[in-house]
Amino acid sequence: MIGDSAAMREVYELARQVAGTSATVLLTGETGTGKELVARAIHELSGRASGPYIRVNCGALSESLLESELFGHVKGAFTSAFESRTGRFEAAHGGTIFLDEINSVSYKLQVKLLRVLQEHEFERVGDTRTITVDCRIVAATNRDLLDEIDEGRFREDLYYRLNVIPLYLPALRERPEDVSLLVEHFVRRFSKANGVTPPQVTREAQGFLESYAWPGNVRELENYVERAIVLSGGGPLSPDMFPPHVRGLAPVRIGRARSGGLEGLCSELVSQSLTAAGDDAENVHERVVSLVERELIQQVLRTCQGVQTKAATRLGINRNTLHKKIEDYALQSDAR
Ligand SMILES: Nc1ncnc2c1ncn2[C@@H]1O[C@H](COP(=O)(O)OP(=O)(O)O)[C@@H](O)[C@H]1O
Ligand SMILES: [Mg+2]
Repeated sequence: MIGDSAAMREVYELARQVAGTSATVLLTGETGTGKELVARAIHELSGRASGPYIRVNCGALSESLLESELFGHVKGAFTSAFESRTGRFEAAHGGTIFLDEINSVSYKLQVKLLRVLQEHEFERVGDTRTITVDCRIVAATNRDLLDEIDEGRFREDLYYRLNVIPLYLPALRERPEDVSLLVEHFVRRFSKANGVTPPQVTREAQGFLESYAWPGNVRELENYVERAIVLSGGGPLSPDMFPPHVRGLAPVRIGRARSGGLEGLCSELVSQSLTAAGDDAENVHERVVSLVERELIQQVLRTCQGVQTKAATRLGINRNTLHKKIEDYALQSDAR
């Protein structure tokens, strides 16, 4: 993992310490901060390194699919269970299981998980035979589980079982000194992948990258560097190879619109954007239009809980177009 900031050194230190134990670890931090990398590192630095490492994204499956994915099922347990199947807990025996997005596990499954954490045992779906496993559990959440408990969505007893060793991954904006190291790392990686010599990053581009807030954290930075390497065609990386909102167009705060209505808002927004861009900015059309477009897509994705088909319909654009824009604007963390 790249990053030499005090905050990241603390992460490495703690990860090394806990790796030697079998304690359950709860990784917290915004999306894109490296939780998955840390989960794997903990496994690889542990005495279980030669055993299996199993990752399950709990947010990607429905309740019943997740249940049979985790615990397995017997033939005939449900309509489509034509064969018996071992679950991921059994597969992780002797190793580590990484439960990603644990916050999205349903209340009912939380009960079953609690039992695995407490007794190391469970039954396959549709079976009465109890199975015992020996696996180390690492879990990650990108929501505050204490809030989820308050909202009645997460069990408090499970939380305390999971939160034996909490490990917080700091957001990139909390450690701006890591940005240039990460840029250098990804420039090297994507240059190699594209068969080009690693280009220089201009001082101006470096400045923008260091002052940007990185809501999507390292994943967002990784995407932008990859895109810039492709656009640069081997030449130096200059600001115009990064999306407009990265290069200095600060988010616009709209107060009470001058002339009221949507038109008033638009004119306020455009004049503020132009001021923020400065008199000598080039490509003002592209910069302002993409700023507005990014904001629009982000807000619609949020109101649609990240469901892309819904958001595409609401926006009146094609699903593939939306998908591409989500990548261009690094809005993956708002989309499912
Ligand atoms: N410190 C780091 N050094 C190098 N790459 C990183 C670092 N943190 C994150 N990444 C990369 O950023 C992306 C997102 O990381 P990931 O572990 O999936 O984040 P999270 O699980 O917190 O959403 C991955 O491609 C990962 O390899
Ligand atoms: Mg992740």
